[in-house]
Amino acid sequence: MSEGKSPRHAAEQESADVSEAEIAVHWPEEDYVLPAGQFIAQAYLTNPGVFERFSLDRFPECFKEFADLLDWYKYWETTVDTSAPPFWRWFVGGRINACHNCVDRHLAAYRNKTAIHFVPEPEHEAVHHLTYQELFVRVNELAALLREFCDLKAGDRVTLHMPMVAELPITMLACARIGVIHSQVFSGFSGTACAERIADSESRLLITMDAYHRSGELLDHKEKADIAVAEAASAGQQVEKVLIWQRYPGKYSSAARLVKGRDVILNDVLAGFRGRRVEPEPMPAEAPLFLMYTSGTTGRPKGCQHSTGGYLSYVAWTSKYIQDIHPEDVYWCMADIGWITGHSYIVYGPLALAASSVVYEGVPTWPDAGRPWRIAESLGVNIFHTSPTAIRALRRNGPDEPAKYNYHFKHMTTVGEPIEPEVWKWYHREVGKGEAVIVDTWWQTENGGFLCSTLPGIHPMKPGSTGPGIPGIHPVIFDEEGKEIPAGSGKAGNICIRNPWPGIFQTVWKDPDRYVRQYYARYCKNPDSKDWRDWPYMAGDGAMQAADGYFRILGRIDDVINVSGHRLGTKEIESAALLVSEVAEAAVVPVADEVKGKVPDLYVSLKPGLLPSTKIANKVSAAVVSQIGAIARPHRVVIVPDMPKTRSGKIMRRVLAAISNRQEPGDVSTLANPEVVERIRALAT
Ligand code: WTA
Repeated sequence: MSEGKSPRHAAEQESADVSEAEIAVHWPEEDYVLPAGQFIAQAYLTNPGVFERFSLDRFPECFKEFADLLDWYKYWETTVDTSAPPFWRWFVGGRINACHNCVDRHLAAYRNKTAIHFVPEPEHEAVHHLTYQELFVRVNELAALLREFCDLKAGDRVTLHMPMVAELPITMLACARIGVIHSQVFSGFSGTACAERIADSESRLLITMDAYHRSGELLDHKEKADIAVAEAASAGQQVEKVLIWQRYPGKYSSAARLVKGRDVILNDVLAGFRGRRVEPEPMPAEAPLFLMYTSGTTGRPKGCQHSTGGYLSYVAWTSKYIQDIHPEDVYWCMADIGWITGHSYIVYGPLALAASSVVYEGVPTWPDAGRPWRIAESLGVNIFHTSPTAIRALRRNGPDEPAKYNYHFKHMTTVGEPIEPEVWKWYHREVGKGEAVIVDTWWQTENGGFLCSTLPGIHPMKPGSTGPGIPGIHPVIFDEEGKEIPAGSGKAGNICIRNPWPGIFQTVWKDPDRYVRQYYARYCKNPDSKDWRDWPYMAGDGAMQAADGYFRILGRIDDVINVSGHRLGTKEIESAALLVSEVAEAAVVPVADEVKGKVPDLYVSLKPGLLPSTKIANKVSAAVVSQIGAIARPHRVVIVPDMPKTRSGKIMRRVLAAISNRQEPGDVSTLANPEVVERIRALAT
């Protein structure tokens, strides 16, 4: 397992930093783009004084404003307990329920308002407009079922492996209502990936759906549950029940058989819970609300544990002031709820504000690149949120489509990866019709919500840059020695946050050491210190700060590849390749891609005596897809005679990355086998 400071890692990091910094220096500074006056006139936040209110010397009491957006059963006593760094406990003493805050409390004013617009992928299927009343009823019935039929109680974990349907937020909220910790696994992940997360979280229950639509096909999804349950069992975790939603209630749309005594069609059992109500459980503010697994520097995905009070207050505040969501807005975040963006900015943030939130089942370019704009027009969407990957795909497949539809966005978000200034400008000009303000929000699964962004009603925008830290977030860039790199120096370094904040995750599920090691150890000068100031949070991204205070994020500094805005661990992909019996060694590297940002190239060497073949390459590719999911499918599998190695035998991924990206690999004379570089280049280009 690679430790943050192993010599190999340090060397790779250094080379990565140098090249990223060079790229950055060569990027010209973009001109500011001003937010439209019409936006500012209606924006919640227009007074720059907000930064004074959230200055570092007001920490932590400034965050009371976040908590005060929520209803509390019992008001908290301590804003944050920092006595055991880096384990922060927010709003200690408070009692709260996330489901109550996202549903019940809105009934008085918004009972008949749409909470969720569910848009099926097939265009001929009716859109379902779920009101807050209907959401309340369905969440209660399911909560009753989970408690009585499945015997779940507060603190239990449940794994969800669900597609983008209204039943997913319903299931999450039903869990939250009774204090059950949900762990939603992205539906595109394989049964194996799901099994790993079931085992790690020790879930006794899996909730899934029989099938869903994706790119014009009705995909069988239940079959993945069978794999997940079987593999979880061999990892030592028994799943007692599999609850199956039906994509078409009353009709089972999977070829996989139901396992007697284990598999339950949810729609059938729910009939016995009609009209049932369940009081929301008043949970301690620090009770975990959910786990979200993500890739990190080591092979195994880690369960980021998010709190109830801190997390919910953070996503509510940022939804209100960074996304400017007003109750009358129609808001569409096109992410998948299987990722953190969907948890925070489709479900919990918007619903905490009584917004109308769109849940779209399918891919944005199905059946054509005009689809998102037709949806926006027909639902009156006026706030839009997506990723650079989706923007690039829509720009490539339908550059003139937005102009054909009569919709008007006041506000747009981009998130997940750096956006090229050219792509940003198309987004602004064509999608936003020059009217919408854009926020480029930088943050991570671990963070709960946005860390850096411009404030839409205050700051000018700068294409390709996120903004300064949002109110209450105080970022800093450190060099390798821990010295601060000043703004405007043109140098890149590791971006860190000086202070804790309510949305930060609590720990890595069942692995507190990893939490400390990976995020806090690097720049902590004194591990015995009880002062939060000694524990900056290290994000793992390279960044530089311009003279105006805006940050530009350059990408990951660890063994993570960001494909289409989704984090994949290089170790995860390499381990999957090694399952193919012919493979001796595997190394994966990121390659620049016009649409997806980065895609993985996978280099493998074979066991002695074996000859390279397309069959083996295909087997390797299939192994990656079945272990992780189609999202990790290698762009290419290159079978090489040997890996470029250091004299101590470490694979030099830097050299492979240079070859894949058609760059000069630099000095290879210190390699144990420099001659192999040219042979690999001949094979890979
Ligand atoms: C990258 C997604 C540039 C970054 C919310 C980070 C970004 C990783 C941006 C987290 C942005 C996210 N500009 N890069 N606006 N937003 N990233 O955990 O490398 O899926 O560390 O969270 O995405 O990905 P994650």
